[in-house]
Amino acid sequence: MFLLQLAIVGVIGALVFQAVYKSRVLPKGWPIIGNALDIPGSHPWLKFKEWADEFGPIYQVQAFGTTIVVISKESIANDLFALRGALYSDRPQLIMAGLVSDNGFLGAARWAEYWRKGRRFAQSMLTSSNIQLSLPKQTHEAQQMVVDLAREPSKYAYWLERAGVMTSIKQIYGIDVARGRAEEHHVHEITSYMGTIDRVATPGVYVVEFLPWLMNLPTWLAPFKREAKALVRQHWDYMASLVREKPTDSFAKRASEEDWGLTDREIVWVLSSIYGGASGTSATAMQSIILNLCLFPEWQQKLQQEIDKAIGGRLPSFDDSPNLPTVRAVIKESMRWRPVLSGGFPHAVIKDDVYDGYFIPKGAVLIPNQWAIFRDEQMYPEPDTFRPERWLKPGYPTYQEPLTTYPNLKRFAAFGHGRRICPGLEVTEKALLLQVSNLLWACRVGKGRDGSGKEIEVPWYDYTGVAISTPKQFDFVVEERVSGRLKMLEEAASAAG
Ligand code: HEM
Repeated sequence: MFLLQLAIVGVIGALVFQAVYKSRVLPKGWPIIGNALDIPGSHPWLKFKEWADEFGPIYQVQAFGTTIVVISKESIANDLFALRGALYSDRPQLIMAGLVSDNGFLGAARWAEYWRKGRRFAQSMLTSSNIQLSLPKQTHEAQQMVVDLAREPSKYAYWLERAGVMTSIKQIYGIDVARGRAEEHHVHEITSYMGTIDRVATPGVYVVEFLPWLMNLPTWLAPFKREAKALVRQHWDYMASLVREKPTDSFAKRASEEDWGLTDREIVWVLSSIYGGASGTSATAMQSIILNLCLFPEWQQKLQQEIDKAIGGRLPSFDDSPNLPTVRAVIKESMRWRPVLSGGFPHAVIKDDVYDGYFIPKGAVLIPNQWAIFRDEQMYPEPDTFRPERWLKPGYPTYQEPLTTYPNLKRFAAFGHGRRICPGLEVTEKALLLQVSNLLWACRVGKGRDGSGKEIEVPWYDYTGVAISTPKQFDFVVEERVSGRLKMLEEAASAAG
């Protein structure tokens, strides 16, 4: 009798185990390549979200012998990346990204000495007090951005990127760039560097990522090595040229004069990682915000009322932030609804581990899928709805007081987790607040009109499907809403030089 009971308990146990375990592993897959063919090359986060609805907030897929663990709940990402940060802060091996950046791109660096030194430096530079020092530059670039946008809105992608690049190049390298061609040159070089990394890191583009033994081939037999060599030379030449002058008041000067344990070569790459991290990201967030202002004019009006009440006729400044909770809510909701890194930034684990009864093997790649994390219904009721009030009204799970401080971007999953969390969070917070408040203080943005005066629709969701997911080109107009304000911005920006 006892044996029979034991057997029944055993069978039930096995079935329960199977059900639980199976529910967390994607079912089918091919030998060697596993589920690789099921993962779309574009917008993988949408497929990952579908699978999360079926298999739960943590599940695994196999691709070319690598276990990929997809996380769709913020609390799980924090449990692993923050609480178990000593295990989960590595990055997956990305061979081509390593080759084109001389293994110097901090964001992709493995959990080793170079990353530790570089990260310490980056974090020490991007402190609140240092960011405070660069506020005047950030403010002038936000003012200039509004003037540029109003003059030529169709070039918006460039104007938004330019504002970030000019702030970074001053703060990091101490360089003041003349308007025009010189600016274009810098914007082109840094976006080209980030574009290279983005492209070569895209799964499926280079076979060597799946067959690492190809690295043993001599260069004449390995076209990818020749390509990488040309690219790393191009990027190095530009990045090294920026640190040659080492002017006062710059991260470059501090990197070379203080002891950070970094070699001269490492200094060039660490600085370029901060420069590169800032490129594309904030400008993409701003593009989504502008798109949302076009889609939801009622929110635009609320922001303008708030700005008029808090600021009136004088120029906006970052000190206005406590009185602009609705501006902060629209920024945060835009970054939730349309995350800049929709598919998240992968981590890797350095040792076998068990989480909530679930085995995670050493070397597994962990993807915090932001698209799904930000669509968690418990935390974000009606997650597919753009709803800035979820940050402003008591009763919503995301509401926090006081509104002079909240909502803000601190510990926001859009910037990642744990020891790898984005060190540029505070710079971004300031840049976006300044850009949105200056834009709406002076202007109204709205849908463009065709020849017959009919409004041209802006797309609801037409975003690129790569790591930094950006709205595809859309039409909008920027009109001055209070006469004289654009002139005030222009004068303030040009007085700053
Ligand atoms: C909208 C703006 C931005 C977003 C959404 C963003 C998001 C992220 C995310 C998700 C990560 C990976 C975190 C993780 O692995 O858990 C990251 C890393 C990083 N970000 Fe940002 N970022 C932004 C702006 C910036 C800016 C302005 C800078 C520089 C000033 C910057 C520099 C970096 C660097 C250097 C890393 C690598 C950190 C590491 O691997 O240790 N980012 N960012």
